Amino acid sequence: MKQSIYHPEIARIESWETIPLVAVAAANVILETVQTDPRAHITYATGETMIPVYMATEGIAQQKRISFQDTTASHLDEYWPADPCRDEFSFVKYLRERVFEPLRIPQAQRYEMSGTTDDPEKEARRYDALLSENPVALAILGIGPGCHMGFNERGTSFEQRTHLARLSGETIHRDRNERNLSTPEHAITQGIGNILDAQRILMVAFGVQKGEYLFEALYGSISSDCPTSALRTVGEKVTIVIDTEAASAMETMERASA
Ligand code: GLP
Repeated sequence: MKQSIYHPEIARIESWETIPLVAVAAANVILETVQTDPRAHITYATGETMIPVYMATEGIAQQKRISFQDTTASHLDEYWPADPCRDEFSFVKYLRERVFEPLRIPQAQRYEMSGTTDDPEKEARRYDALLSENPVALAILGIGPGCHMGFNERGTSFEQRTHLARLSGETIHRDRNERNLSTPEHAITQGIGNILDAQRILMVAFGVQKGEYLFEALYGSISSDCPTSALRTVGEKVTIVIDTEAASAMETMERASA
């Protein structure tokens, strides 16, 4: 069922046969973090990939009576402008509905980025300070177009802190043309520097396209041209959970490049 994939820099890469199995494996990493430290600060990614992961987390937490009530929750990114009460694409809306409410994380322990602010640079500085004062036990990540993590697009320095990012053409195309969302051209995002500071990092990916992004990140050069390749600089604390489709896509690309 599970296959371990050896990588010289990344501590753990697991490939599972189906998306539900990937979701349970990823949920178990999240739940272990909370069992080890019931007050853990966790950074949650958004996106389609995470929907089954958060559903599995909620289900297992209920079954095993694991409480998130003392945990703190932050997140990776938010479109700007974005209003969680009005905009379907808002990540804060997503998090409230899929993470904060189902896991019953108290209001005071939810660190939400404001996508409605008039001053996104100031909001990025506020969020960055919040992250520096409250070390992250686990950062949960997905991977997106151009190997981005959060909204750190190609060319972002590995030292970059939380900032206002201009989205790449690839990302805008995915959101507007493939997903039919009226998203803006900017977002506030944790920087790669913030992400690498987390005590533990979990990346989840499934499907052929994500396998192709991951191949570039894991086997290409470590460079700001591929933001996710930054994970290899702290590989000892990284776990990547993927499905067999993503794993086969990586193998195909490896054979083609040999
Ligand atoms: C988005 C977000 C990321 C997310 C990634 C994957 O653009 N900025 O935080 O992890 O892309 O999203 P999905 O799982 O929907 O493909």
